[in-house]
Amino acid sequence: MESLTMSALPELFDLTGQVALVTGAASGLGVAIAEALAQAGADVALFDIDGDGLAQTAARVTALGRRPLPIVVDISDEDAVEHAFAVMDAEFAPLDILFNNAGMGDPEPRLLDSYATQNWMKVTNVNLHGTFFCARAALARMVPRRRGKLINVASMWGLAGPSSIFPLPAYAATKGAVVNLTRELALQYAPLGINVNAICPGFFRTNVGPYDDPEFMAATTSFTPAGRIADAEEIKGTALYLASQASSFVHGAIMVIDGGCMAK
Ligand SMILES: NC(=O)c1ccc[n+]([C@@H]2O[C@H](COP(=O)([O-])OP(=O)(O)OC[C@H]3O[C@@H](n4cnc5c(N)ncnc54)[C@H](O)[C@@H]3O)[C@@H](O)[C@H]2O)c1
Repeated sequence: MESLTMSALPELFDLTGQVALVTGAASGLGVAIAEALAQAGADVALFDIDGDGLAQTAARVTALGRRPLPIVVDISDEDAVEHAFAVMDAEFAPLDILFNNAGMGDPEPRLLDSYATQNWMKVTNVNLHGTFFCARAALARMVPRRRGKLINVASMWGLAGPSSIFPLPAYAATKGAVVNLTRELALQYAPLGINVNAICPGFFRTNVGPYDDPEFMAATTSFTPAGRIADAEEIKGTALYLASQASSFVHGAIMVIDGGCMAK
């Protein structure tokens, strides 16, 4: 770790010369995180299944003066993830920062007794297994250098059941698993100089939920003590904090960014 004593405050958040990877970078929070990293000086690899969206995020990174590396990949496909990391190694190494951000909600929110197995598999494959595949590949590259930042984007629904507002059993199960995986990885890798932390967002206007539906908006807004939902941009400060030297002694933190929902 570099000395902090002589750092000017902006240097704490400076990522010049670093290489970051954001999964789920074609939409929502992934776009905002990729922009924040590029604004702080990092080159940014971008993983997503949505090639058109990726191209738009890549253009934003380029416009900020940094190099993007968009790769179309399904993070729930183990071989495809290994291949994508190999492509990254060839063009973009070494990896300093991973945001495990790609995720999905329950395709048909409902009570568990009538929940379709294929939906359960879909959600766990992306939210949990995809997180595992990407974390493993990134950590294998960070360990030899004894440095790195791994940030898992979980959810406030990894800390409490969503059914008080709508039923999302697979989402809740996978996000809870990602929260506790974060704690376990923080313990495994803190001695090796790698910070592992999680962000647990509350309601942010993205494509993960039907934020255009007035009923959904009314329910989420009234559930949130701040009295509003967040714009995707509002993830940037926390993302940059966890990606940078500013969080040098932060390991296993579960940062809840939710307008007060989990304080209730
Ligand atoms: N927006 C919220 O209110 C909110 C709240 C809590 C947690 N989160 C979490 O934040 C993360 C980002 O979601 P978002 O809100 O930006 O939603 P979003 O739907 O706007 O973006 C998710 C992105 O992940 C990509 N993705 C989905 N499955 C993938 C796969 N198998 N492989 C690669 N990419 C895949 C999608 O194509 C999309 O671009 C997710 O993990 C989500 O669970 C969001």
